[in-house]
Amino acid sequence: MTDRLRSIETIIESRRGEHGSLLSILEDVQRSSDHNYLKAEELACVARLLQVPLAQVYSVATFYAFFNLTPQGEHVITVCRGTACHTRGSKPLLDRVLSLLGIKFDRDGSATTEDYAFTVATVACFGQCALAPVIAIDGFIHSKVSEDQLTELVRSLQQGGEA
Ligand code: FES
Repeated sequence: MTDRLRSIETIIESRRGEHGSLLSILEDVQRSSDHNYLKAEELACVARLLQVPLAQVYSVATFYAFFNLTPQGEHVITVCRGTACHTRGSKPLLDRVLSLLGIKFDRDGSATTEDYAFTVATVACFGQCALAPVIAIDGFIHSKVSEDQLTELVRSLQQGGEA
């Protein structure tokens, strides 16, 4: 058994008997992963050890937006693509950040740099439409963002600063 599977077994043991433990177990498994995501073999391991159908594990892992099925970067930049943000320039913002980082979206609609420093994703609406265009960097909202401001924020993160 690998160290990783042993650590998943420990997580499951620590939550055994808890009501609704599957959600908490998946949170713990993701939190303890290298790049904040759930691997297919880890989901299979959770299903096997909990003796629940794999489909049930996947239904939880895919229902909640905070679960990731692909490796995530250290910094996550989320660009709103809702109508209000679109009309105020969110597409050029998205194009700019992808271009700055030299990445393209993959099939799951996100992109991560090879060094796992950055992930870029989109969201349908942050619920902050009056402040469009809106982006989030590592969970912090930035409103009325211009392409130049976005460039500065990304450059700052690339140099080890904060956004
Ligand atoms: S459309 Fe962007 S915050 Fe609502």
